[in-house]
Amino acid sequence: MRAIGDALVTPSSERQERNLYPHAGFDVWKIREDFPILKQEVHGHRLVYLDNAATAQKPQAVIDALVHYYTADNSNVHRGVHSLSERATNAYEETRAKIKRHINAAESREIVFARGTTECINLVANSYGRANVQADDEVIISAMEHHSNIVPWQMLCEERGARLRVVPINDDGEMIIEEFEKLLNSRTKIVSVVHVSNSLGTINPVRQIIEMAHDWNALVFIDGAQAAPHLKIDVRELDCDFYAFSSHKMFGPTGIGILYGKAELLEAMPPYQGGGDMIRSVTFEETTYNTIPHKFEAGTPNIAATIGFGAAVDYLNDIGFDPIAAYEHELLAYGTEALSEVPGVRLIGTAREKAAVLAFVMEDIHPHDIGTILDRQGIAVRTGHHCAQPVMDRFKIPATVRASLAFYNTTEEIDALIAGLHKVKEVFG
Ligand code: ALA
Repeated sequence: MRAIGDALVTPSSERQERNLYPHAGFDVWKIREDFPILKQEVHGHRLVYLDNAATAQKPQAVIDALVHYYTADNSNVHRGVHSLSERATNAYEETRAKIKRHINAAESREIVFARGTTECINLVANSYGRANVQADDEVIISAMEHHSNIVPWQMLCEERGARLRVVPINDDGEMIIEEFEKLLNSRTKIVSVVHVSNSLGTINPVRQIIEMAHDWNALVFIDGAQAAPHLKIDVRELDCDFYAFSSHKMFGPTGIGILYGKAELLEAMPPYQGGGDMIRSVTFEETTYNTIPHKFEAGTPNIAATIGFGAAVDYLNDIGFDPIAAYEHELLAYGTEALSEVPGVRLIGTAREKAAVLAFVMEDIHPHDIGTILDRQGIAVRTGHHCAQPVMDRFKIPATVRASLAFYNTTEEIDALIAGLHKVKEVFG
């Protein structure tokens, strides 16, 4: 067993027996070598980074791709005939092709680059939504959405005189599908739901949701920000109309994400923003627009981050999503069991289908205090409402502590978290 700082405690012998590391083809200690940031100490302890749902750490391959771009290829894309611009354009467009393959889209032009998932949702709400949602129409979301999948639809509905409807969740944090069925009707224009909840970890049955919505001719947007780092996404198998995720949660740089949209939908949608690169011709009388996806990519994009995103997608596929999912599943089971043995801890989010999130409250101790004491032991977790205030309201709590896992986390780090929580209890008597 390896020590993580001095916070290591011996786990229950039974859990220890079921140690995870002999996963065929998955050597977590080798993988950790790819992430230079994980080697540092915080407050004199080896960093235990359990805030991956907020943003994930970057492997050396991604850092190298950024350095290479700025060292050798820095230039604008789609605008120059010179060699640097050609190299930058090729690398930028290669990421689009990689993502097309990664999510099994039919064509590269169905991949639109944007700043992140939030911008993608705003793009669809403003473009598709304003063109198609009329007074008395309905948009359906769920009670477990991140604010970014609530507010843009709320703004759209307010402007159009449409109605926002919300699918309730049960005490385990699962969407109540029977209630969703009751909300669907001929006025439903858009259903926008999260694939994996950032605050609860619930994996939603999106294939079923999409099929049910399509039966009513409603379009479906899937917020995949928390799913894409953990699950292999196949947009054609899902048959979703739109799907979005961010690079920075997938071990890539910040400031870039993608919107997948079916080509015929993107083609029919008006532009979201005006500017360079999104036009075919401009006169003061009239502007004609570029083809998709460029119609939605006004202005100089985040070229370096896009290229780094491509390196992250390669990195993930080199490890493989099956080993990642299997390892994280066992890590989650280990953490769930360990946390539920800490007196006074209550897990928030106990769905049967769940990804790598361990959210909890501890009786009478505010999550921010817990987070601060854990930080003094080198353990990074997120505390607060996690941009999902309606989820906190649903569970009648102000906030949670959230430990969110990645494939580079270890059982020893979970043991460090548990030891940290015992220290929290000591401090609060
Ligand atoms: N949406 C990110 C989170 O859940 C920032 O922490």
